[in-house]
Amino acid sequence: MARKFIVAGNWKMHTTIDEGIQLATQIQEGQRNANTTVILGVPFTHLFPVKKKLKAASKIHLAAQNCHYKNSGAFTGEVSPATLAALKIPYVILGHSERRLFNHEDDALLALKIQAALENGLKVIFCCGEPLEIRKAGDHVKFVQKQLEASLFAVPATDMKNIIIAYEPIWAIGTGETASPNQAQEIHLAIRNMLKKQYGKRIADNTSILYGGSVKSSNAKEIFGQPDVDGGLVGGAALDSQEFLKIINSQ
Ligand code: 13P
Repeated sequence: MARKFIVAGNWKMHTTIDEGIQLATQIQEGQRNANTTVILGVPFTHLFPVKKKLKAASKIHLAAQNCHYKNSGAFTGEVSPATLAALKIPYVILGHSERRLFNHEDDALLALKIQAALENGLKVIFCCGEPLEIRKAGDHVKFVQKQLEASLFAVPATDMKNIIIAYEPIWAIGTGETASPNQAQEIHLAIRNMLKKQYGKRIADNTSILYGGSVKSSNAKEIFGQPDVDGGLVGGAALDSQEFLKIINSQ
């Protein structure tokens, strides 16, 4: 099994550039498990200055939190995937529930964004996950399956090595409530089986599936210990370097 163990921080709209540089530097200087791929999803404005501060040897990678589906054009306020690629930013987070909710990003738009990101050589962290009422109704697997079918499954098998999936139940984001390790394992396994059906066993086995939603150092080890959980996408706890370092080292 060749899939990577990944801990990614999603800083969302937090930190000034100076604060972001400080946070990234502290993470760079911290003791980190060499087996964990570390990614920092920083605001657009921070990508260049934070990148300049990170040493290549630190193996800390940067992610944008969004990109447009076109490479250029009259799209005021948007950021092109080609610009991110030219800046040598390796990752982009797409489909986060906050963008689906506040920016009305739907499955079809996300399919275009994924394609554009991949065409530019970016790796995509694709977020999926259900709201509370769907979970309560027991329809979470079906809901996530539809999200994957509608946005992700147009990706050709040859590009799947550049896809990371982040399962983030909306009811666990920023709420302090996490999926239990069993709940996480159940849906991660279901997602892996969807990948298997669509792309075959090798790709399913090689795709990292991260859990997101109130991950902290106190719960990371148990969640990451599940066989189909390959790391985490961390919001609030990624803003504290010591806490984030503990999560990095929670494999
Ligand atoms: P929290 O870790 O703050 O719940 O956020 C999760 C998240 O949305 C990461 O993308």
